[in-house]
Amino acid sequence: MSGPIRLATGNPGKAAELARLLGAPVEPIAGWDPPVEDGATFLDNARIKARAGARQCPGAWVVADDSGIAVDALDGAPGVHSARFGGDGLDDPGRVQALLGAVAGAADRSARFVCVLVAIGPDGAEVVAEGTLEGRLAEAPRGRNGFGYDPILIPAGETRTCGELAPHEKDAISHRGAAARRLREALGL
Ligand code: IMP
Repeated sequence: MSGPIRLATGNPGKAAELARLLGAPVEPIAGWDPPVEDGATFLDNARIKARAGARQCPGAWVVADDSGIAVDALDGAPGVHSARFGGDGLDDPGRVQALLGAVAGAADRSARFVCVLVAIGPDGAEVVAEGTLEGRLAEAPRGRNGFGYDPILIPAGETRTCGELAPHEKDAISHRGAAARRLREALGL
């Protein structure tokens, strides 16, 4: 692979995180022009972004990611709508409350974080890598670490929420870390 991997994002922090997870140079796409993410699945949306990135960066390996939380009692929702669940006006704690409200009274509280990475090579070859973090929803938010739905997802085998795990503890089991390890292997990095 010649040259850095380009991540389909304008966010340098996300590129730095993926570089750390892949053990390879990753740069955001300068002037990233995000496409409309109207796919029905994480794979659809990651692919939409990877293809847009490949058009914007011909000749490079381009990677895109999509992630979210899928709740069994809600038939997999919020899924691809995780970032906007409950409406556009909500912040992370507001979305957490909206999700707890949606599952109130449900016997099955199983849920998982999902991350899909799609890489497209200079010749158009596509590599897909997925990772999940299985768990269950807490009754109320706990912990100040992380972001998004971390305060209410208790990983399988844990009593603490992701919001109560140290960052390195979450990294070791996270959906994003697992997807990145699979991509690293598939790309021979
Ligand atoms: P996107 O992948 O940036 O489109 O956003 C996915 C959304 O899913 C985020 O806004 C979070 O709400 C949620 N999400 C994805 N990964 C995590 C995680 O590791 N912890 C908590 N929430 C997450």
